[in-house]
Amino acid sequence: MNKREILLILLLFTISTRSGAVEGMWLPSMIWKNMGDMQAMGFGLSADDLYSEDSPSIKDAIVRFGRGCTGSFISPDGLLITNHHCGLSKLQSHTTVENDYLTHGFWAANRAEELKNEELTVTILVRMTDVTSRVLEKISPEMSEQQRRGVTTSVSRSIEREASEGGKYETKVEPFYSGNQYWLFVSVVYRDVRLVGAPPSSVGKFGGDTDNWVWPRHTGDFMFFRVYAGANNQPADYHPDNRPFKPARFLKVSAMPPQENDFTMVYGFPGRTSRYLTSDAVDFILNREYPLGIEMRTGILDIYRQAMATSAKTRIQYTSKQASLANAWKKWQGEVRGLNRLDAVNVKIQQEAEMACWIAADQVTAAHLNGLFEEFSIIYKQFHPLRYASRLYFEGPRNAEIVKFALNFEKLVELSLDPKTTLAGLQAEIDRLKPIATRFFRDYEPEIDRDVIEFVTERYLALSEPGFIPGGLTAHLKKYRNDPARLSAGIFRKSVLVSEQKTMEMLRNVSLSDIRKLVRDPAFVYATTLNSFHTNGIQTPMTSIQTRIDSLYRVYINAMMVKDPQTNYFPDANSTLRITYGRVEGSRPRDGIIYDYHTTTQGILEKADATDNEDYFISDRLQEMLLNRDFGQFGNQGVLKVNFVASNHTTGGNSGSPVLSGQGYFMGINFDRSWESTMSDIMFDPQQCRNISVTSEYILWVVSQYARADYLLQEMEIVR
Ligand code: ARG
Ligand code: GLU
Repeated sequence: MNKREILLILLLFTISTRSGAVEGMWLPSMIWKNMGDMQAMGFGLSADDLYSEDSPSIKDAIVRFGRGCTGSFISPDGLLITNHHCGLSKLQSHTTVENDYLTHGFWAANRAEELKNEELTVTILVRMTDVTSRVLEKISPEMSEQQRRGVTTSVSRSIEREASEGGKYETKVEPFYSGNQYWLFVSVVYRDVRLVGAPPSSVGKFGGDTDNWVWPRHTGDFMFFRVYAGANNQPADYHPDNRPFKPARFLKVSAMPPQENDFTMVYGFPGRTSRYLTSDAVDFILNREYPLGIEMRTGILDIYRQAMATSAKTRIQYTSKQASLANAWKKWQGEVRGLNRLDAVNVKIQQEAEMACWIAADQVTAAHLNGLFEEFSIIYKQFHPLRYASRLYFEGPRNAEIVKFALNFEKLVELSLDPKTTLAGLQAEIDRLKPIATRFFRDYEPEIDRDVIEFVTERYLALSEPGFIPGGLTAHLKKYRNDPARLSAGIFRKSVLVSEQKTMEMLRNVSLSDIRKLVRDPAFVYATTLNSFHTNGIQTPMTSIQTRIDSLYRVYINAMMVKDPQTNYFPDANSTLRITYGRVEGSRPRDGIIYDYHTTTQGILEKADATDNEDYFISDRLQEMLLNRDFGQFGNQGVLKVNFVASNHTTGGNSGSPVLSGQGYFMGINFDRSWESTMSDIMFDPQQCRNISVTSEYILWVVSQYARADYLLQEMEIVR
């Protein structure tokens, strides 16, 4: 063998044994840069198939679902699939104790039975354009950060205005690489989105919070909606005459189970990653910010849990709130563990030291960049006490429901105190508040919130750094002998705003004097005192420091790219459309443990049998069908795969994203990451980071066999 042959063999060896994980969430219009890599891993289509502005492409089948999730079209009639947990609050809104869709599931038997949803939108990207040169055209090096920001903002706004064609499109110019690049996104927003079908909780939430962020997993985390359009397939408000939207492209659904090493990609709207943070920032997040959030939420969730266990009504009312608090609470714990395990702070310190060496080595670079990391440190020392106080407010008092609700009344009170305001002048504001109040009280249990206020106030006082407790709160507390328990009891005894009857009465029979009395209402005082202190004393200085931090990152990331020009750095996620790819593969999370790449229905039975944990409750019918391996046309030799893991780099917002095969078929739906990978928002580890998805075969089986809604399969194009 000559040297070249040896090298070739070595290369083949590394390709076949390396993990398929590729760090990065790529812009669809730039995905051609990754084509070589993707095709080598088994991708069988072209960059144009994924993203094109000239003809229909897979991007036309991908939507932003609501504000924080992704979905995809799987029929020519606008049928959309997303996660159960993404549709949860809508499903909850249609649920009552008598008609418990949460527990039993919901299936519209025909289009007329599909349920309309308030405030639910589906956003489809039309195109994305690099507008960097235009945004930065008038920028000069002498400009202050403030001036620079003024220019980039005003140019961005005018690009958005132009591109919106008089409101036809939703447009947004977003910075990338901390402002080294700018992209324009032009989208259409559909407003009539109806609920089509949801499996019962015992499928859609199987494993609940016990299994959340954990592998092995057995959750059927999917839900169906349908987008409706007005004339000419254009967006319209809900109307019975609207027609199902015809997407430019929909995904074919694979009925085949995933196989180990299959190429996969996830196409969706990842929310936020922080890949380029410096060591100071990671240290703060790891050792201060996350522990704070975990502590506060542990206390609040305990209060919720007890109340939800004792009443069916409360369980329904607090389902969605509980799930959303619990989700980040658990994720942070996984992240802390993962970051410590990677020794993330020291890894960053070392990378910074290398960078500092490179900077110092070249005179020109040194002249620009010397002291970059010292500057980061100085500025973070000013920033972090404010950030801590801000997190303490949001994770503490601001998590009390009455605080958020009371802040809605600030404007009304302000108007009432203005001597020029008349009753008629208040009416518009009253009309705005009425539906807010109706919605609030539908899911509100004052006793729960009273305990929450007591807990968060006590913690807020104990954990605040000197100088960060508003004088107004101290004065307010004095009336209650400085006792948080008395304070919260007082709020719930005297406040108008904690009572549905009194609040509605106030909004119905409007009297200026009643509204003016809110100035002394204990819930209103508590909320506004804390909130204005946060806005003026914390938020304002924080924003101005943040501007300086952003400018340092802009310089830092640019320097990185100059230093290693051959590296394809990915831009941090920012809720814009991205593609990430990898392989179906398990991992070795700990010494002696191997994670398989998939789970089967067998695991559902095992979990259901093993405990009386209600997260693992399944219905008799499901149990029987699974025991009998009653899989109909699905599954293979009596095995039906339920969930699978793959090495795609995903984050929050990728929920509901389709997982696509090398041929672009829908092979499942992404819904989570494993415990060992949650730190990938800050530091990615190709050996550990795995996204978790439901297999398409399990979805098809649940819909057609278990839920007997097989008519839905008729509008899909199923491939085998
Ligand atoms: N962890 C997943 C995500 O971040 C799923 C959350 C919903 N499930 C739950 N048990 N709360 O959103
Ligand atoms: N469950 C997450 C979401 O709601 C996706 C999982 C993740 O964070 O990776 O977006």
